[in-house]
Amino acid sequence: MFSFSEKNNLFGRRCVWVNGPVIVGAGPSGLAISACLKDQGIPFVVIERSDCIASLWQKRTYDRLKLHLPKKFCQLPKIPFPEDYPEYPNKKQFIAYLENYAKKFDIKPQFNERVQSAKYDEACKLWRVKTVSTTGSFRSETEYICQMLVVATGENAEGVIPEIEGLEDFSGEVIHAKDYKSGEKYKGKKVLVVGCGNSGMEVSLDLSNHDAKPSMVVRSSVHVLPREILGKSTFDLAMMLMKWLPLWIVDKILLIFAWLLIGNTQHYGIKRPSLGPLTLKNNHGKTPVLDIGTLDKIRSGDITVVPGIKRFNHNTVELVNGQILDIDSVILATGYFSNVPIWLHEREFFGENGFPKTPFPNSWKGKAGLYASGFTRRGLAGATADALKISKDIGKQWKKELNHKKQKVPTHRRCISTF
Ligand SMILES: Cc1cc2nc3c(=O)[nH]c(=O)nc-3n(C[C@H](O)[C@H](O)[C@H](O)COP(=O)(O)OP(=O)(O)OC[C@H]3O[C@@H](n4cnc5c(N)ncnc54)[C@H](O)[C@@H]3O)c2cc1C
Ligand SMILES: NC(=O)c1ccc[n+]([C@@H]2O[C@H](COP(=O)([O-])OP(=O)(O)OC[C@H]3O[C@@H](n4cnc5c(N)ncnc54)[C@H](OP(=O)(O)O)[C@@H]3O)[C@@H](O)[C@H]2O)c1
Repeated sequence: MFSFSEKNNLFGRRCVWVNGPVIVGAGPSGLAISACLKDQGIPFVVIERSDCIASLWQKRTYDRLKLHLPKKFCQLPKIPFPEDYPEYPNKKQFIAYLENYAKKFDIKPQFNERVQSAKYDEACKLWRVKTVSTTGSFRSETEYICQMLVVATGENAEGVIPEIEGLEDFSGEVIHAKDYKSGEKYKGKKVLVVGCGNSGMEVSLDLSNHDAKPSMVVRSSVHVLPREILGKSTFDLAMMLMKWLPLWIVDKILLIFAWLLIGNTQHYGIKRPSLGPLTLKNNHGKTPVLDIGTLDKIRSGDITVVPGIKRFNHNTVELVNGQILDIDSVILATGYFSNVPIWLHEREFFGENGFPKTPFPNSWKGKAGLYASGFTRRGLAGATADALKISKDIGKQWKKELNHKKQKVPTHRRCISTF
């Protein structure tokens, strides 16, 4: 469905003209936009560093993962989840849904190509997107040239590896949560899980279910909420209440229910932040934890909560309270970061943290045909909202262009040179 002209230069590097936008990333955000563009007959190219769609879900998540929000908040535009899917689809079901989605809309990304730089060429009024192949020993490079660029590389593109004294000298295995699959191989092992976000909590639960002995590091504070309140999803309830009540009152209601249903988490070493869960998420992007059984394991002593880390030694860890623990392995559930600043040479719209500077709902459109999808800190629902706005806007530009140029070769193409 997309058309582009290609030119190989003397060094085997390709230069590709793309009609329509280049979309970087074939995760849920990239797929959602692609589907909405396909629907309008607009050509595009999707570039993906991995060899599959939704690589976060297929390659960088653990086996027991389920969507933690009800399915109605997680489906992409135009195709709902199959009716027989449960309220919280598991990872396999979600991947099957996305594979089917890509197939239905005939979305065929350029796989195994990592965008290493993208820059707006003021002289030509075009984006120049350079990629390098991620497979094979021969490093092939391609430059895509386009008028519109959609950044859909995700909020969780890379794992955070914290600098902690002595970590390199630790003799056991150290992995990031993105490489954790299951607790099976940790049976009987003493495992330190660093971090208590949704990943840290769920990895600890999984380890405990596989008869490992997890200790979970809680260095500051976190809101833990029940996944459901009175049989209704906590998220759904919060969304409903927010239609009628100010955020701070909804926060208070959620905290009262949390206190009634799960008790005072401080008793188990998990302090609550002073700001309410929704206010904290809105103002600082910190996601509350939706409990799916970890608290019970903490209460029963199967998971131990420990304070921050002072340093690692050969086979032990020293905590800030002076306690020393023997450990076999470390799992860093220390979060993720956006990789946009590494490759996008643009600092007006995107900030240094790799997120758009303007907050939601104005975080989807920059200047000169630049768009951002999936950076609202609102998960899959945010990706869908972005896709609808971006594809509508691109549709308008596309129609305008067609009317103006009436199929003529654009004059600005003349200033393109290869590498
Ligand atoms: C463990 C875990 C569980 C989660 N569970 C939920 C949940 O239940 N509900 C929810 O709403 N959200 C959840 N999220 C948030 C999650 O990020 C989104 O659901 C969703 O994956 C975002 O889609 P995306 O397309 O924006 O980003 P991603 O899924 O991260 O996709 C981005 C794609 O861009 C590619 N890419 C990155 N850099 C480059 C580059 N330089 N060149 C080419 N390609 C590149 C990546 O390989 C990837 O395929 C979860 C996140 C994690 C880590
Ligand atoms: N089932 C699901 O749907 C599911 C499962 C997992 C993840 N997710 C989503 O994926 C995203 C990422 O979640 P995440 O849990 O991986 O990351 P996260 O929410 O960013 O949490 C990172 C955790 O690591 C801690 N940390 C960072 N550096 C540390 C250090 N040096 N020492 C001790 N602790 C440290 C942080 O503590 P501080 O707070 O003190 O910084 C925080 O507790 C979220 O949007 C989440 O909702 C969803």
